[in-house]
Amino acid sequence: MRAPTRRDSFPRPGLERSLMARRKKIYEGKAKILYEGPEPGTIVQYFKDDATAFNAEKKDVIDGKGVLNNRLSEFFMTGLNQIGVPTHFIRRLNMREQLVRNCEIVPLEVIVRNYAAGTMSKRLGIAEGTQLPRPIVEYCYKDDALGDPLVTEEHIAAFGWASQQDMDDILSLALRVNDFMSGMMLAVGIRLVDFKIEIGRVFDGDFQRLIVADEISPDSCRLWDIETGQKLDKDVFRRDLGSLTDAYSEVARRLGVLPKSNVAKPTLIN
Ligand code: C5P
Repeated sequence: MRAPTRRDSFPRPGLERSLMARRKKIYEGKAKILYEGPEPGTIVQYFKDDATAFNAEKKDVIDGKGVLNNRLSEFFMTGLNQIGVPTHFIRRLNMREQLVRNCEIVPLEVIVRNYAAGTMSKRLGIAEGTQLPRPIVEYCYKDDALGDPLVTEEHIAAFGWASQQDMDDILSLALRVNDFMSGMMLAVGIRLVDFKIEIGRVFDGDFQRLIVADEISPDSCRLWDIETGQKLDKDVFRRDLGSLTDAYSEVARRLGVLPKSNVAKPTLIN
């Protein structure tokens, strides 16, 4: 059997573009494009190679990032589904796309922190890497023009972004995701410093449920090697610390998503 080549891992952009052009685009975000799905109530989520930071002030295209995030998000969402944490994920379709349940996104970024880092360190003057007394959950209002400001449950209730019952469910989902992700990472020598999730609303008849939506990937988590403290997440891009695909490939390799021999070149196994 011939060895996989770079072209196998990253389908030709021209070919991909012509296939994508035939579908109805619903929304294009910074890192993903959403297309109408094949069945009612479904959406195709396409992972781009675009990387942005600081509310899109810093931008680049990182060859292979979308392929890695598609595969890693599939891995985490599948695990969550298996332990009974509901997510929007249905199945991966190909290297860059996954089929997900259409849902109404709650306009909040839900951040869970185990160690101080990033904006929490800046805001409160706590050294990066300080272990927090317990996981701390923060909410930001999803609005790029405002820079996703931090909000309290008072704002959320007063402006009707989510009900008190929703907030109870969101907190419980966020902490379950934290326990699952922390354990998965600890098993492969990685510290889950913090992460962000988004929550979707789905309706089964009159009954409303909240599920984990969007993506879970090194774009939305802080992941540090337990031994060396090496950063294996989007801070590599934000802070110019080296190759982002090398960092994400290392996470994928440790989790068994990439074959062990292949660290630098992300040839993905199915
Ligand atoms: O920047 P900050 O320290 O608030 O980020 C906390 C966590 O949330 C980090 O893991 C970061 O990658 C993630 N995040 C995100 N999308 C945002 C803001 C933060 O994925 N818009």
